[in-house]
Amino acid sequence: MTHVNDPITINGTTLKNRMTMAPTVKFDYAGPDGKVCEKHIAHYRKRAEGGCGLICVEATAVTPGGRFAKNHLGLWEDGQIEGHRAIVKACHENGAAVIIQLNHTGIGANPDCGPAMGPSAVPTRNPEVLAKEMDAEEIRGMQDSFVSAALRAKEAGYDGIQLHGCHGYLINQFISKKTNLRTDGYGGNAENRARFASEILRRLRTECGDAFLLSVRTAGIEPDVASAIEIAEEYVKAGCDYLQVSTGIEWEDPTVKDEEDRPYNAICSLGVRFHEHFRGRVPVSCVNSINEASTVRYLIENELVDTVDLGRAVLADPAFPKAVLEDREFAKCFDCPRCQYGPGMPHKCPAKQAQKVKS
Ligand SMILES: Cc1cc2nc3c(=O)[nH]c(=O)nc-3n(C[C@H](O)[C@H](O)[C@H](O)COP(=O)(O)O)c2cc1C
Repeated sequence: MTHVNDPITINGTTLKNRMTMAPTVKFDYAGPDGKVCEKHIAHYRKRAEGGCGLICVEATAVTPGGRFAKNHLGLWEDGQIEGHRAIVKACHENGAAVIIQLNHTGIGANPDCGPAMGPSAVPTRNPEVLAKEMDAEEIRGMQDSFVSAALRAKEAGYDGIQLHGCHGYLINQFISKKTNLRTDGYGGNAENRARFASEILRRLRTECGDAFLLSVRTAGIEPDVASAIEIAEEYVKAGCDYLQVSTGIEWEDPTVKDEEDRPYNAICSLGVRFHEHFRGRVPVSCVNSINEASTVRYLIENELVDTVDLGRAVLADPAFPKAVLEDREFAKCFDCPRCQYGPGMPHKCPAKQAQKVKS
């Protein structure tokens, strides 16, 4: 039986246990220069001290135009590297491996940051405006931006990077038939729809070296699980070492439990189904509402996934992983809807004020 505290080594990077911090963007921290600030460093240090085996730093823009908003972290220029070194140091000093999620908003670009562009001319945030369909040169330029950002991440000392391939952003837009209507080599079958990211992965493997951890956070359903797995197979062929599975443009209702006796929801079950498929070849994690110590143990001890990815659980209590390992009380996430993207952010987490619980 696998235990939560068992280490796992992924392409040379050892995670001391099976709990990872999910990428969770801090909107109010970075300024328009996209640089890391002291609050970021303290935020990630706390989660490393709290026992996460791996920290995945939040979605970080590869170009200024790809930011969620003007107060969003970036790695689009060399001047941004130094701050990331401090995040890496804070994590490594506390025994956590650390990677960074790289992203572009694509069709969903914030007009304050840049033009909406993506695989096809489909409606943007403003349904009356169509996105610019990226031509071959723009595709290559965007891939260059991902590669340059990854090289900066490597220079900052990160153990690897994660491509943000889910939640409806650019890489997800390429794999979804809803947003990718192309008839060239980047549209049509799974191999073609995965090509935008696969070409980035192949370049990263060459340019960042064999020992750099390459992860993709991919859509577990696009438009169904079998097709999403076909896409992920392309990523693995291209050099992806580690799959974290979440939702896509098509998604499951997280409140639906796939079977009543299972303590995890339908989004988590996507990761479980990927793990069944990739078992023994590529480590897989699942995510979503894993807010109980008992759920962490269930998923790992029954070998349903290799790692569990924790978002709001470690936002509510940075020491949640230690609490799981030491079987003690923690501040439990209330699952409140405000802790999501949108006008309610940032908000004060009520779990921090509430009585701690044990599970
Ligand atoms: C405040 C906040 C910020 C988030 N930022 C990101 C992000 O940068 N990248 C990403 O892939 N997902 C992001 N997510 C989604 C989480 O990583 C995670 O998939 C989701 O919250 C469900 O997991 P949880 O129930 O453990 O929080 C964010 C979620 C929240 C609540």
